Amino acid sequence: MKRILALLFFVFVPFSAQAQITPFSTWANTRGSTLTVWFVDPSTGAFSGTYVNNAAGFECQGAPYQVSGATKGPAVTFTVNWTGVAVPDCKSITIWRGEVVGPTIRTRWQLEYVGSDGKFHRMNGVDIFTKR
Ligand code: BTN
Repeated sequence: MKRILALLFFVFVPFSAQAQITPFSTWANTRGSTLTVWFVDPSTGAFSGTYVNNAAGFECQGAPYQVSGATKGPAVTFTVNWTGVAVPDCKSITIWRGEVVGPTIRTRWQLEYVGSDGKFHRMNGVDIFTKR
């Protein structure tokens, strides 16, 4: 019986975590930004969607930017290059790395941007997203 339970745990827990990142799911973080997942390739865990930044103190707010990411088991990584068609170009890129925990994605992020001095700068932080 214990072996069957262990087998069920290792087979189904990873799938249930990966299954959280589903097409048409929207995730909001504590800064008011939203990640919307449109497409997920179930064979690779690759996904794409849009990210609307509403975080105070940052640029490129209120417009949808392309996001691409990958999920494997509970692990989630996604990236936004803050440029695109008909949206401001912030000359910056953010990568979030984290994991799905229940209805949340807990991440650490790294933002690389070109400052007013023309040089590259780096910022780090934490974002917690909750499924809407
Ligand atoms: C920029 O200001 O250069 C582009 C926008 C960056 C927004 C950052 S990304 C990490 C943090 N989480 C958010 O939802 N927004 C900020």
